[in-house]
Amino acid sequence: MSRWLLTGGAGYIGSHVARDLLTSGREVVVLDDLSSGIRERVPGDAELVVASVLDTEAVRRALEGVTGVVHLAAKKAVGESVEMPLMYYRENVGGVTSLLQAMDDVGTPCMVYSSSAAVYGEPPWSPISEDSPLAPLSPYGETKVIGEWMVRDVAAARELSWVALRYFNVAGAGSPDLGDPSVNNLIPMVFRALDQGEAPQIFGTDYPTPDGSCIRDYIHVSDLSAAHVAAADLVERELVGVALNVGTGVGSSVAEVMDAVSSVVGRDVGAVAVGRRAGDPPELVAQVERAQEMLGWSAQRGLADMVESAYAARR
Ligand code: WQD
Repeated sequence: MSRWLLTGGAGYIGSHVARDLLTSGREVVVLDDLSSGIRERVPGDAELVVASVLDTEAVRRALEGVTGVVHLAAKKAVGESVEMPLMYYRENVGGVTSLLQAMDDVGTPCMVYSSSAAVYGEPPWSPISEDSPLAPLSPYGETKVIGEWMVRDVAAARELSWVALRYFNVAGAGSPDLGDPSVNNLIPMVFRALDQGEAPQIFGTDYPTPDGSCIRDYIHVSDLSAAHVAAADLVERELVGVALNVGTGVGSSVAEVMDAVSSVVGRDVGAVAVGRRAGDPPELVAQVERAQEMLGWSAQRGLADMVESAYAARR
């Protein structure tokens, strides 16, 4: 049985990954500073260390006997990163620096790094492959690119097997107690509007897409979580270094998401079209063949599952 460190394991995505790593037969140590994570979401079978990844000494201690690290702990709000770039560089780039230093000190051989489709910025084509140019449009996306490069560079200097997972639009919940508590993204924002008796908004209906609204690749958090376990299996088995898109390969427009929500709540949500939001690419869909080949993994759940489970888990 191997032992893994999961940073950010008390968060929305991390609490799913913690459960799946345990189910895969691994021991799990969660390291989380609980700045946005929730203590009650850490499964009882996992150990919890309350500390920041910036605390290299605490990370070094937590790495005792650990084969690999799944590194999720990071700031992730794009708009906030534009307002507070230094905080994003400190937390995200500083976090990877501190973690890699600790891993180097104790000789941890495996890593799964949480990256983002934000590394592509406004993609020149869609679906987008991992070899497409990296052109992030926000400090958040920049910190994710820098993190990938740092992991790659450390791996070139010593033996480190790594996978970077580039998440597309994560949604849904694996169980009603594990919903996304933040309201940064489309589906939580639609439910918040409905809870407040307001009309959900569609940001732009004049894009060059079939219905005029933006297209994204929404992936169920349980599928995303399963990709982490498959990546942990891969880095334990072989010496690799690769970035992989984690999406479904299928795009849905904002209008289609509104329809899916309408079906789940049993009435037309009455979405209204408003102007474009700055910086939104018209279409961002993952090319998923590389993840399928390397991980033997593919997404199983569709948009209806995501919306239904998010609805069941909304607070
Ligand atoms: C999805 C679509 C909006 C709210 C961001 C980050 C990305 C990743 C995921 C972290 C867009 C539209 C939204 C609303 C709307 N984050 N929208 N009405 O912008 O694709 O990606 O989150 O890793 O890096 O950039 O996600 O959920 O904000 O928006 O019409 O009330 O929904 O314009 O087309 P996005 P999102």
